[in-house]
This record gives sequence, structure tokens and C-alpha cells, in this order.
Amino acid sequence: MNPVKIGIAGLGTVGCGTVDVLIRNADEIARRAGRGIQVSRALVKNISKDRSCDLNGVELTTNPEDLLNDPEIEIIVELMGGDSGIALELVQGAIACGKHVVTANKALIAVNGNQLFAAAQKKGTMIAFESAVAGGIPIIKVIREGFSGNVIRRLAGIINGTGNFIMSEMRTKQRSFQDVLVEAQDLGYAEADPAFDVQGTDAAHKLTILASIAFGIPLQFSHVYTEGIDKIESEDVEHAKTLGFRIKHLGIAAQVTDGIELRVHPCLVPENRLLANVEGVMNAVLVDGDAVGPTLHYGAGAGAGPTASAVVADLVDVVRTLTTDPENRVPHLAFQANSLSDIPILPIDEVSSAYYLRLNAINRPGVLADVTRILGDLNISIEAIQQKGDGSPDEFLPIVILTQVTLEKNMNCALERLAQLETVNSDIVRIRLENLNWS
Ligand code: NDP
Ligand code: HSE
Repeated sequence: MNPVKIGIAGLGTVGCGTVDVLIRNADEIARRAGRGIQVSRALVKNISKDRSCDLNGVELTTNPEDLLNDPEIEIIVELMGGDSGIALELVQGAIACGKHVVTANKALIAVNGNQLFAAAQKKGTMIAFESAVAGGIPIIKVIREGFSGNVIRRLAGIINGTGNFIMSEMRTKQRSFQDVLVEAQDLGYAEADPAFDVQGTDAAHKLTILASIAFGIPLQFSHVYTEGIDKIESEDVEHAKTLGFRIKHLGIAAQVTDGIELRVHPCLVPENRLLANVEGVMNAVLVDGDAVGPTLHYGAGAGAGPTASAVVADLVDVVRTLTTDPENRVPHLAFQANSLSDIPILPIDEVSSAYYLRLNAINRPGVLADVTRILGDLNISIEAIQQKGDGSPDEFLPIVILTQVTLEKNMNCALERLAQLETVNSDIVRIRLENLNWS
């Protein structure tokens, strides 16, 4: 049988990694897919750039129409990035031409996925996006197919490799934020705009996708509450360590009584939890299904090889199903398109969590009592409280408090009242805390 011809858009970290894997493992891939997979054209921005992969037999172009208008190309692999512009136009164009799409572009899927999947369903084309979430971990397949017998109750994950790499290197090697970020960029982990990694946007894109396939809801990126790692201070990393916690940047999605929680933010996690020990560029996703119970999925979250592993797995899936009736394929978002639910996403004010607080307060009798009274008035129970320092009178000293689970709006109210105390510095640090005791 003739090989399936594909066009790759983007020959950067992931594009070249994909070409490498397709060449290196060509025989194994053909034995699995039933046909060979051949890259016939590749779209790039700068045609004269040196590439690290073997492009023998690949025609390079800067014109997307060359991929779209080639009748021999059955699958377009979009590996450029961005939720608009050329990436969106190319994918829309591919669907309109009846070509299948494989993409690693989580921004594109999280922002435009609802429309793209509807268009693809009409045309009977596939859009595969395993590599868009958690790099080499086949988490989309696990949730969409492996757990289709479960009601998924919640998931929590470290889903940005760059952010986890930065936090791990800073904590274990005392390196500077900027120095580690530059290394992450050199290693090809970071997004074109690394603010997406550092400010949590990339993790929010990924959480949007995970929540959709876990709960059968439309993609709702704009409803994800998002905080990044850029405001974490080393002082809090140290206090957390003393208390037996690590600070991790988590994406959390959960079905609760009134709706769905979708949130990305730094979080204290007990140091004996597996998630707390996921270091460097590694990702891990904890998924809790009613039948299977809690499961943990771990692997490299970024980089050429791991991401190419997922891109090629999608290609094999698409090639295997080229001739199947579109009605009998796995639905893009796991649930049949006409069965998606409109269960609301909760505003962060309505989300419950435990908290770590650090405030600087004057070392004077009665100050701690004022602080605990404010928390008590709002029904916030204290789990632990520590005042640091040598106790010199009238000096500002850090007070670290761990609370029990409470509503975010109560905590916001408490923080406002605490900041108004004359004896407390208004710069109060608040980090959410999750025990992740899901067994
Ligand atoms: P790179 O920046 O390394 O590569 C981007 C590629 O796209 C380059 O080859 C570039 O061409 C090409 N490109 C960009 N703009 C245009 C344009 N206007 N016209 C034609 N070609 C263009 O990105 P990555 O490989 O790191 O990422 C690609 C996608 O994969 C992104 O969506 C990213 O979020 C996603 N992803 C990345 C992972 C990673 O570890 N890096 C992991 C998982 C997903 P040229 O080379 O000529 O400049
Ligand atoms: N920039 C992303 C990360 C790439 O660091 O996780 C993988 O999606």
C-alpha cells in the first residue's frame, strides 16, 4: 500500500522532532498504522534556516496554500503555534478541503476548538490533539478512551513543563528565575511567548481541554481562573518546606455540587504526595474516576522527543481510521457532540480551598488575637499558626497561617479586613493548599 502523505506546518522543536521520529521509527510505525507515513511538504517562515532534521524528499514552502492544494496530502500537522492567524487559517482550510488535522497547539484548541470540531464533524474529518496536553503523556487517550466507563469526579495536574522546571531548579539549586527560563527556552520547552508558561496561560489552555473531555462540557478557556508562578517568593517556598509542603503550579478541575471548578494556580501540596515530587520538565496528572479511583499519569511534559511521540501516535490513529465511517470514530471531546452538558463553571469566589497565609505583623500583645478573630468571624478555622523571628518587641515579624477549607469569598473578605489592621502590613501572601488526599 502507498504511504500516507502528510504536510507539516512548522519545523521548530516539535516539527523537527516529529520528522526525526517518523524517519527513525518508520518500520515500526508502518507496522502499527498499516501504511507508511511520509512527509511530502513542510511549511516554514524562513526557508533558508538551518534545520536539525533530515528533510530529504520534503518540499519546503512559505505558502500554506501549497499544503492545502496538494491533493495527495491527506493529513496536515499543525506545529506552528498561536490561537489565530496562520495556524487557525491553515486548520480551517484543511477542514474545508476535507483533510485531517493533527496539532500540538493547545491555544488553538482551547480557544477555537468548539467551532473547529463542529466544522470537522460536518466534513467528516478528524482533529487529533494528544500532544497539546502534557507533552508525551497520552492523557487525552487515557481520559477519552481508557476511562469512558467512569464518571470523572476531579483531576489535578502539573501541566506546564517550563514552569515546573523553573520552580524545581530554583528550589533545589537556588538558581535565578531568569537564568532557568533562558535554559528552558534553549531546551525548546517554552512557548514562543514565555509569559504563557510563567503566567499560567499555557496551563489554562491545557486544563480547558482536559476538563472538556473529562466532564463532557464545551471548551471554556475564558472561564478558567488563572494565576502563574511569577509571584512566588523564595520565603514562601522555605516556609512551606518547614511545614512539610512543596509549592507546585497545578491545574485543577472538579465537579462539585453547584458546578465545575476550573483553576490554575500555585498550590501547597504535602511533600509526601507523588505530585509534590514531580520535578523538572516532568508533568503528572492525577485523575479520579468513580469506578477506577485515583490514577496518576507521569512523563515528560515538553521537548522535541516526548511531544513528537504524541504527535506520531495521533498520526497513527488517524491513518488507522482513514477509511472508517466518521460517525463511528471517537468523538473529538470524548462525549458525542450533541450530548455536551451546560453545567456552569463556578466563579473563583464560589470555590473552596484551604489556604497558606503569610502576613507581617508587629510583635505586640493582642495582634495575633486580632488576626485570629477576623478569621474566626468569617468562619475560617485555623489548622496551624507560626510566628517567626526572635521576638523583639514592636518589630514586624512574619506570621504563617494554614487554614482549613473555606470559601474563596470568605478568604477575600478576611484578607481585606486583615490588611486594614494598623499592626499588619497590607502585603499579605495567600497561596491555596490542596491535600490531594483522594484515596
Ligand atoms: P517553534 O517556535 O520551535 O517552531 C515553530 C515553527 O513554526 C517554526 O518552524 C516556524 O518557522 C514555524 N512558523 C511560525 N510562524 C510561521 C508562519 N507565519 N508561517 C510559516 N511557518 C511559521 O515552536 P514549537 O515547536 O516549540 O511549538 C510548536 C507548537 O507545539 C506550539 O503550538 C506549541 O505550543 C506546541 N507544543 C510545544 C511543545 C514543546 O515542547 N516545544 C510541547 C507541546 C506542544 P521557522 O522555523 O522558519 O521560523
Ligand atoms: N511550553 C509548554 C510547557 C510546552 O512548558 O509545558 C508543552 O506543552
